[in-house]
Amino acid sequence: MKVVTTLALAVLGRGLVDPAEPVLRADDEALLRGRAAFETTRVYAGKPFRLDDHLARLSISAARIDLPAPDHEAFRALVAGALAHEKIGDASLRLVWTPGASEGGAPLGFALFGAIPEGHEPLRARGMKVITLPIGVPYELRAKAPWILGGVKSTSYAANMAAIAEAKRHGADDAIFLAENEIVLEGPKTNVWWRNGRTLFTPSLETGILAGITREFVLEAAPGLGYEVAEGVYTRSQLAAAEEAFTSSSVRELMPVVWLDGAELGDGRPGPAAAALQQALRRAAAEG
Ligand SMILES: Cc1ncc(COP(=O)(O)O)c(C=O)c1O
Repeated sequence: MKVVTTLALAVLGRGLVDPAEPVLRADDEALLRGRAAFETTRVYAGKPFRLDDHLARLSISAARIDLPAPDHEAFRALVAGALAHEKIGDASLRLVWTPGASEGGAPLGFALFGAIPEGHEPLRARGMKVITLPIGVPYELRAKAPWILGGVKSTSYAANMAAIAEAKRHGADDAIFLAENEIVLEGPKTNVWWRNGRTLFTPSLETGILAGITREFVLEAAPGLGYEVAEGVYTRSQLAAAEEAFTSSSVRELMPVVWLDGAELGDGRPGPAAAALQQALRRAAAEG
């Protein structure tokens, strides 16, 4: 398990709180049922990347699990106050919005700042080993059955963490979920991409995946870098036959995939599209 170093904790209505201090009740829905919404973004030189997009997605997740709407302005002020006071430069930023205790509780929101794990850059340089894991449902169901919570960032991520643990047991770094008939979905914490020639392929949102903020960035940036994007419903064998693959996520950014289910992917080395997009992401983050 990677140790996440907490840099700061700020709670709505209270402001900065000692991270060692408890802020949730033991009967909070987030803890007892995993029924809370969350977001993770990355802070670059004191500026959270696309915070408004993350807040918009937090509201969508909250609505999908019957939580009251989070107050965006209050979250923005909380984050800005903590960043300024603690002089935080680069960090991960997790926003959590819970309805509180099921009886007599009040909604609670907090912002948790953590250090960026040191392992990301070495992993970007060597590329990830990934295994695919079936989840046994048709991809159409993920989008059409709202109770399955496809595409929702709720705190019920135990299955996602179990998938990463399964990948590690197989000597891999990460996993990619497959719907029935080996339809490629997403990773436990990432969206998935691959390249053939100048075309980037990624599963479309109709597969019930999370609408990643980094995925959106890639969709916007790709044409300017000379890549066209094809969103669709694709199989594992299409991914396996790619010239290059990578994942996208807020904290790990663009991460090359060089090995899939025991075989080299492409030429087994990090590819040019992932590198170009990674540079473009850093440029966009620097411009704020
Ligand atoms: C299931 C899942 N898919 C994709 C992503 C990537 O989304 P983003 O780029 O917004 O971080 C995440 C992020 O945590 C995720 O949990």
